[in-house]
Amino acid sequence: MAIRNIREIGDPVLGKTCKEVKEITPRIQELINDMFDTLYEAEGVGLAAPQVGILKRIVVIDTTGDSPIVLINPKVLETSGEQTGYEGCLSVPGKTGQVTRANYVKALAYDENLEPFEIEGTELLARAILHEVDHLEGHLYVEKVEGPLQDVENAEEE
Ligand code: NI
Repeated sequence: MAIRNIREIGDPVLGKTCKEVKEITPRIQELINDMFDTLYEAEGVGLAAPQVGILKRIVVIDTTGDSPIVLINPKVLETSGEQTGYEGCLSVPGKTGQVTRANYVKALAYDENLEPFEIEGTELLARAILHEVDHLEGHLYVEKVEGPLQDVENAEEE
């Protein structure tokens, strides 16, 4: 188990476009394991490789605490509907803001054997997939926030 250091807003690595994964090496497998350790330690919903300083197209998501999903080279195929809600990011600690995203997403991704699969999600899972794919393009949710970025404590009282 290894917890990696989470890069925070202002770190230039978070603004870069990530590269496709072409093969699963032991280092990549270790990175994925560490990303889950880091995600669970931080009690997050999703984590993208650039958030731990690695510019590769790898995302880990777990919206329930016991449903880990790895998305390698994910590509959004389809979106529909709309949801507006509070969103946060482990790279923007203590903050939250309202973001409107699609309520349904279908994506193509590769698993840890580089086998392709499709994933569909609604609500929180759809939000997580879209949020994490944005990270791979160097985008943070704060660019999409409607209204002010708020402190988590204040937002929860509303
Ligand atoms: Ni994030």
